[in-house]
Amino acid sequence: MAMVVFGAAGGLGLALTEKLHATYPEQQIIAISRKPVSKRLAGVNYVTVGDYSDATLAEWASDFKKSGGQLDGVISTVGMLHDDSTFPEKQLTDINPEDLEKLFHVNAITPLLILKHCQTLFDKKQAAFFVQLSAKVGSIEDNYLGGWYSYRASKAALNMLLKTASIELKRSHKQLIVAAIHPGTTDTGLSKPFQKRVPKDKLYSAEQSAERILSVIRELEPAQSGSLFHWDGTRLPY
Ligand SMILES: NC(=O)c1ccc[n+]([C@@H]2O[C@H](COP(=O)([O-])OP(=O)(O)OC[C@H]3O[C@@H](n4cnc5c(N)ncnc54)[C@H](OP(=O)(O)O)[C@@H]3O)[C@@H](O)[C@H]2O)c1
Repeated sequence: MAMVVFGAAGGLGLALTEKLHATYPEQQIIAISRKPVSKRLAGVNYVTVGDYSDATLAEWASDFKKSGGQLDGVISTVGMLHDDSTFPEKQLTDINPEDLEKLFHVNAITPLLILKHCQTLFDKKQAAFFVQLSAKVGSIEDNYLGGWYSYRASKAALNMLLKTASIELKRSHKQLIVAAIHPGTTDTGLSKPFQKRVPKDKLYSAEQSAERILSVIRELEPAQSGSLFHWDGTRLPY
């Protein structure tokens, strides 16, 4: 049995891989990323993929299955807020369709493809989890500030896609938990340009957030599958 981290080269991906390896030393940990992970740990199986496309994920899952592999946990950290050419929108006049599509692709479509291919690798009768990092700003009910159109909407879409998949998978995989977790504002490349406005005690280290995410995962029950959780374990509204 194995646990997999997708997005293993990112700030939270690196910290979660490290924390999983330290917490479950007997467990096979697979760390998947598009670029090679700089800080490698002995005992972790690092896999570099060209992209997270449907075809690439299908090929990885098929090879893993052929080698007799089975999963009991998946954490996907895949997500983006900005890159060299894309920055969160402040107002309607900042909207452009390319950025909207890009964020929907990375934040909503890609995680669903990861789940699509990983679900074939879970034992239908055994306890397992599929956790995707989401964001509180993707909560429609909790949106008081506005702005960040693409990020908010793509995370809201992600939450809906995971909820929908959880309903389907409850029928075939009674012990599988599908959950979205908000990690809190964490000191990684994703939050870097926005950290000035964050109070010091509200900006968490990747190690701290990884520890909290694993604590939430440890407490999850199959009946809670399909929910969005805050890093403190409470349920967030959609
Ligand atoms: N940091 C925060 O304050 C914060 C707050 C709320 C929610 N989150 C969520 O937590 C997750 C992890 O964030 P992080 O802080 O660790 O950010 P990060 O360091 O930027 O890592 C993001 C990960 O997403 C993948 N990714 C980024 N752009 C991509 C693209 N264009 N195509 C495919 N994959 C892409 C990367 O995978 P590779 O490893 O393959 O490069 C990377 O590991 C994200 O889903 C984010 O939305 C973070």
